[in-house]
Amino acid sequence: MTTLRPPRLRASPWGRLATCPLLEVKGLKKHFASRTGLFGPRTLVRAVDGVDFSVAAQESFAVVGESGCGKTTLARLVLALETPTEGRVMFDGNDLNGVPPKRLRALRREFQAVFQDPFSSLDPRMTVADIVCEPFAIHGLYRGPALRSRRLDFLLDAVGLARGHRDRYPHEFSGGQRQRIGIARALAMDPRLLVLDEPLSALDVSIQAQILNLLKDLQRDLRLAYLFISHDICVVRHLAGRVAVMYLGVIVELSEAEGLFRDPQHPYTEALLSAVPIPDPSARRGRKRALLSGETPSPAAPPAGCRFHPRCRYAVDSCKTQVPKLRETSTGASSACPVRPFASRPSEAAIGVRP
Ligand SMILES: Nc1ncnc2c1ncn2[C@@H]1O[C@H](COP(=O)(O)OP(=O)(O)OP(=O)(O)O)[C@@H](O)[C@H]1O
Ligand code: SF4
Ligand SMILES: [Mg+2]
Repeated sequence: MTTLRPPRLRASPWGRLATCPLLEVKGLKKHFASRTGLFGPRTLVRAVDGVDFSVAAQESFAVVGESGCGKTTLARLVLALETPTEGRVMFDGNDLNGVPPKRLRALRREFQAVFQDPFSSLDPRMTVADIVCEPFAIHGLYRGPALRSRRLDFLLDAVGLARGHRDRYPHEFSGGQRQRIGIARALAMDPRLLVLDEPLSALDVSIQAQILNLLKDLQRDLRLAYLFISHDICVVRHLAGRVAVMYLGVIVELSEAEGLFRDPQHPYTEALLSAVPIPDPSARRGRKRALLSGETPSPAAPPAGCRFHPRCRYAVDSCKTQVPKLRETSTGASSACPVRPFASRPSEAAIGVRP
């Protein structure tokens, strides 16, 4: 059956050559001014504090980190739902905060979002058909009912929902099915990039695997690029080609996924992997753990020097004053730790990580 794809956007004077990365994030910062109580002191929350990365067309790129490290803020910046305090988000060569509003509206067709909570992200008064076809009305595509219906069938097939579900309401579906509806809506305009912000974390573990497999299949079949955001480092192993590890608003390690799990370069990555439960008791006995101690500091008052130093078991005096930059290590990964490049010794953390 035909996929009935909408026409691609034409190149624009703001666009660059087709060889540029699909998504380029440069020196990106987002600081929120916040106040404790009505008369409390004003503080600056450094949610995202200088992030650089790029995502190629059809690449699956993951961002992982603990709660509060700035993942959702980063996703909202990439989706042009927030204005950066500093830095740029380039999509296909277009600076999303520099293009005229009309061009931005057209570009939005090409990058879409799937959110964490499939319960609150769907309007309970709309049927599946209304939800999935809503973007067609916004962008003036698939105007005829027959065209719209064929496109809807294609999208329902693609996400594994029955065509007969089109007239049902969100409350009639399970969590996993609702997430499928959300994915169908995100695919409606045939985007090139999906920003997936914790798309599995509200689902039961058994359903997570199904949605993960669906996302893998869709990426391959529809040639999508993913910016996949998760607090669960295990999940990204199955989906991502490259992984950025985020801590308190900055990227501390950027690596090919396999290399990251085999040979983590940054102590924070090592600690994240060390916290992964191992089902096999014999493998569990042989593992040396590098568990994280202490709470994540507040992004309103990040520690001086290396932000990870109050929790780092390798910290030396210079870590308290010197801000480490991401640098390439001998494994080809980039790590923001000049003290502990782990390339020279076998990884302790990667032992027995859950497949
Ligand atoms: N609009 C806002 N105003 C003030 N502070 C904000 C705002 N949005 C986010 N923050 C703060 O920025 C920091 C990063 O938040 P963010 O939601 O991006 O983290 P996260 O990594 O997505 O966390 P989680 O895993 O819990 O979803 C948090 O300290 C949060 O309280
Ligand atoms: S720079 Fe120092 S504190 Fe930071 S991760 Fe490396 S060893 Fe730990
Ligand atoms: Mg979040």
